Amino acid sequence: MADGRTALIVGASRGIGLGLAKDLRARGWRVTGTVRRPEDEAALREAGIEVERADIADAASADTLIERVSAPLDLLVVNAGVSGPRHASVEEVTAEELGELMMTNAAGPVRLARRLLAAGKITDGGTVALMSSTMGSVSDNKSGGYDLYRMSKAALNMAVRSLDAELKGRARVLSLHPGWVQTDMGGPNAPLSVEDSARGLASVLERGEGVPPFVDYKGDALPW
Ligand SMILES: NC(=O)c1ccc[n+]([C@@H]2O[C@H](COP(=O)([O-])OP(=O)(O)OC[C@H]3O[C@@H](n4cnc5c(N)ncnc54)[C@H](OP(=O)(O)O)[C@@H]3O)[C@@H](O)[C@H]2O)c1
Repeated sequence: MADGRTALIVGASRGIGLGLAKDLRARGWRVTGTVRRPEDEAALREAGIEVERADIADAASADTLIERVSAPLDLLVVNAGVSGPRHASVEEVTAEELGELMMTNAAGPVRLARRLLAAGKITDGGTVALMSSTMGSVSDNKSGGYDLYRMSKAALNMAVRSLDAELKGRARVLSLHPGWVQTDMGGPNAPLSVEDSARGLASVLERGEGVPPFVDYKGDALPW
């Protein structure tokens, strides 16, 4: 059990974020989860999870969250993410659509991590984990498709590597892949349940050493 260790899960209203928040709480972590809508608070509170509001794409909202984080965090997970415009087409995308996708999936998560670190709200030796995807792997892309989503997660991975290089070991920085999971985003044909993905991710995050920097829910290394 990890009694007393503190985690902040950003984007915990449903899907993988909610599952991970519940799994860590069941392991004894003190967990805060963020939502955007008041009606999503109850499910977290019922599981003993503290609740804050945050929109990862909005700088002022992120700053309010940072001010409200009281205990230094042992773990930050930015899980919030979107799949992008329904048409998923580089040829059709507007600046507004691309801006929202990149702010939500890439710049917003890294901005929050950097500002929490600068505010001293992440413990030395703590973990900063950003929810990426194998779709963000440049070298693994042998099938094509999903250009916009891939671009956003590849950009996230690049920013994760920069952060890791700059921190020089002050905190552990990870890009996570949760597997293909049955959520609103992953769809009903995904092979993995939220519970199994969350259990795997929590085990990886609890592991002290030897976790690869781009890692899936089983603890296996992924190629950048
Ligand atoms: N499912 C998969 O197979 C899969 C595979 C690889 C990677 N991933 C990644 O895993 C993460 C979670 O995916 P999921 O499948 O659980 O997706 P999901 O069911 O669609 O849930 C997305 C979560 O992100 C939150 N979110 C979206 N935009 C946000 C914003 N601007 N600010 C704060 N929160 C925001 C949502 O909050 P609201 O409820 O308020 O919208 C929700 O909690 C994402 O980063 C996704 O890219 C998923």
